[in-house]
Amino acid sequence: MSVFTLSESPRYPIETVDIALGERGYPIRIGNGLIGEATSFDGVPKSALAMVVTNTTVAPLYAQPLIAALRKRHARVELIQLPDGEHHKDWATLNLIFDALLTHGADRKTVLYALGGGVVGDMTGFAAASYMRGVPFVQVPTTLLAQVDSSVGGKTGINHPRGKNMIGAFHQPLAVVADLDTLATLPERELRAGLAEIIKYGPIADAEFFGWMEEHLDALLAREAAALRYAVRRSCEIKAEVVAHDEREAGLRAILNYGHTFGHAIEAGLGFGTWLHGEAVACGMVMAADLSVRLGHLPDESAQRIARLIERAGLPIVGPRLGAEQYLALMRLDKKAEDGEIRFVVVDSLGHALLRGAPDAVVREVIARHGG
Ligand code: NAD
Ligand code: GLY
Repeated sequence: MSVFTLSESPRYPIETVDIALGERGYPIRIGNGLIGEATSFDGVPKSALAMVVTNTTVAPLYAQPLIAALRKRHARVELIQLPDGEHHKDWATLNLIFDALLTHGADRKTVLYALGGGVVGDMTGFAAASYMRGVPFVQVPTTLLAQVDSSVGGKTGINHPRGKNMIGAFHQPLAVVADLDTLATLPERELRAGLAEIIKYGPIADAEFFGWMEEHLDALLAREAAALRYAVRRSCEIKAEVVAHDEREAGLRAILNYGHTFGHAIEAGLGFGTWLHGEAVACGMVMAADLSVRLGHLPDESAQRIARLIERAGLPIVGPRLGAEQYLALMRLDKKAEDGEIRFVVVDSLGHALLRGAPDAVVREVIARHGG
């Protein structure tokens, strides 16, 4: 396991971003050393039993300090270790969580803690949404991607072999505790995948943040603590605002899926786990930017800026050769599709996005240029 240094890593005060969802609202706490501190979990009800759900990669790194902190809030803390990987985000692995909950006598007050990346977070959240019709859970994200996106907003679920995140539920956590120190052990490829979801927020919601990313990409790749901290906080602020306006994706929230329509087709088409989620989204954003240009929404120069930033982040800008028919068939299953019509997030101008249909012929042009 490589351990990178978070360069110039002073202990900043904890920052909090609030998700304003009334009685389902919660804090996102961002800081250093949070996992091992009982106070990071203030506000989570004390209960007889807590279950830490993680995987075999993250458990040896972070389970012990978390369990020690949680023992101050819960009389008993049990650990569930799932197999690692996107290809395990399925029914069989979900059932391992239910088996363990039943084995340990979990009841409706048991709190689940999702310790890991987006895969662990999405599955634990779905288990919490459905076990005994709903139990509380806390997100403790340990990848950059999970800290800036998947741990926030309450989307939970698993993949179906034919489609990404096809089975799931909305279930908000009680809190998100993002410990920036965990990013020191993240493999380089995973760091870059996380950058994709950070880059996403610029074109859809904040042109200034896009400019900041252009300026600070090298600092983020070098894991400079101040840059990572700002990127995580700004991403969470943007996501918090979108989710507060549209928790269940009646409209606005769909913009968070920029790049995901093409991206999910890449993930499913290649088999889950072949490309990382962030890699597929990165390439999907380049394709969706090109589509935005072809539909007359976005100046070509802006699409080029998006592609350049993604390429500088070491992320793919050319898709796999799945063939246009497979791309189209997979995208027709996308959750945003209506009556078989695929709807794409198109960028209108840097910082603003819309949901639009597109003629198949134009989508084929995009695929011919970028995706085989
Ligand atoms: P991941 O959960 O597979 O984690 C990536 C890898 O890093 C795994 O091997 C994991 O074990 C390892 N890892 C985790 N933390 C580590 C650490 N600190 N040090 C070393 N290794 C560590 O992938 P991800 O990119 O975090 O999440 C992708 C998933 O998130 C996808 O399934 C995607 O669909 C989902 N997602 C969900 C939402 C949502 O709103 N719910 C949003 C975006 C993405
Ligand atoms: N990642 C998309 C969403 O949370 O809506």
